[in-house]
Amino acid sequence: MLSIKENELLTQIGPGTPMGKLMRQYWPPIAASQELEASPFRTKEVRLLGEDLVLYRDRSGQLGLIDRWCSHRRVNMAYGVVEQDGLRCQYHGWKFDHTGACTEQPFEETVHPDARFKEKCGVAGYATHETAGLVFAYVGPQPAPSFPMWEPLGWGNVVRDIAISELPCSWLQCQENSLDPVHAEWLHSYFGQYYRGEVVPRGGAADAPVVARTDTQRQPMRANTHTKIGFDVFERGIIKRRVLKNTTEEDDSWAIGHPIMFPNILLVGNETSCTMQWRVPVDDSHTYPVSLYTFRAAPGSAAPKQESIPSRIVQLFDEQGNWTNLEHTFNQDYLCWASQGPIAERNREKLGESDKGIILFRRLLRDQLKRFQDGETPMNVFRGAEREIPLELPLERVPMGTHRKPIYFPGEAGWSADRTLIEETMATWTKVAGYAL
Ligand code: FES
Ligand SMILES: [Fe+2]
Repeated sequence: MLSIKENELLTQIGPGTPMGKLMRQYWPPIAASQELEASPFRTKEVRLLGEDLVLYRDRSGQLGLIDRWCSHRRVNMAYGVVEQDGLRCQYHGWKFDHTGACTEQPFEETVHPDARFKEKCGVAGYATHETAGLVFAYVGPQPAPSFPMWEPLGWGNVVRDIAISELPCSWLQCQENSLDPVHAEWLHSYFGQYYRGEVVPRGGAADAPVVARTDTQRQPMRANTHTKIGFDVFERGIIKRRVLKNTTEEDDSWAIGHPIMFPNILLVGNETSCTMQWRVPVDDSHTYPVSLYTFRAAPGSAAPKQESIPSRIVQLFDEQGNWTNLEHTFNQDYLCWASQGPIAERNREKLGESDKGIILFRRLLRDQLKRFQDGETPMNVFRGAEREIPLELPLERVPMGTHRKPIYFPGEAGWSADRTLIEETMATWTKVAGYAL
């Protein structure tokens, strides 16, 4: 439980707030590169840490991330014209480059060719970094820290996929879920099977027939009952460990565990494939969950070539506005995070043994905030000349105590446009001992 004041301290991330300043030290992903290619305007409206921005790629290939509202009369420049060296506002033709500088004001320059009006009309412009099919942004003070090149971002011989959604809730309750192993046996196992009609059939008589699964739906997981959970702070965040009814502390789920990278990233997976999940703060009460799926070819095999890395917007609601696609693990998570409300009322919660990872994470957040306020460099911020910092991460080999046949089923709704390439890549593992199950 937190006091109302503590809850506000940790969840308010607008400009000038203590947490807003801390969160502006990082490089969150804000778009898939492919979204710009797919957009008719080669732009994307982005809202990050309470600020409205527009991302675009000019005709020379340069990415720009600038204020969304034109400095002239505040038009939304997501409908602007992308030119060779900047974005031209569609209303009166003022042009802005990727630094936000106003480079042209056609009518003003006609009437006052010698005036320097445009020098006063620039907008904010921010740094971007493109890798693994994602565009990352830095909107904090200069100089920008080095880009953290988390290990899976640099893997070669892989096929990748990206899914992005937007949730009407604070980033913090999304990330707290990463410190909560016990929910998996209920939300992802029991509720998931309930939703699919495999336990108590929904909306029917108790003896109603069980609804048949479609062949696109995954086999139900075992109950995976937890008997022990543990958490350790490490140099990049927290390692989450679990022992299940059918595993021991010798198994990777305890011995290696899953890393949560400070402040808002989770890595789940094993040597065959992994998912990095960022919970990107849009504003105090909205979050972009951004998932990067990486599928590796088995040693000695070659992954098929991808033309570009596909991305999709995850469908969360049906036409009536109800939550849907809840057979997917992440959609189940998204439902729970959003249903805690725009900002979870942590002053009213009752934390138990299953929540000790959450308590540790909140402590880490407060410690890092204090450290930052004292002028020290917070966790996972790297100051130096290097443009990128390579970062290794622990990864399980055998998750949950058993090899699983590497198959592709999307963690969240919608299939990858490169499904066949992913399946081809996963099939390379069937030649490896232990995986041909
Ligand atoms: S509003 Fe953008 S140029 Fe006038
Ligand atoms: Fe989950």
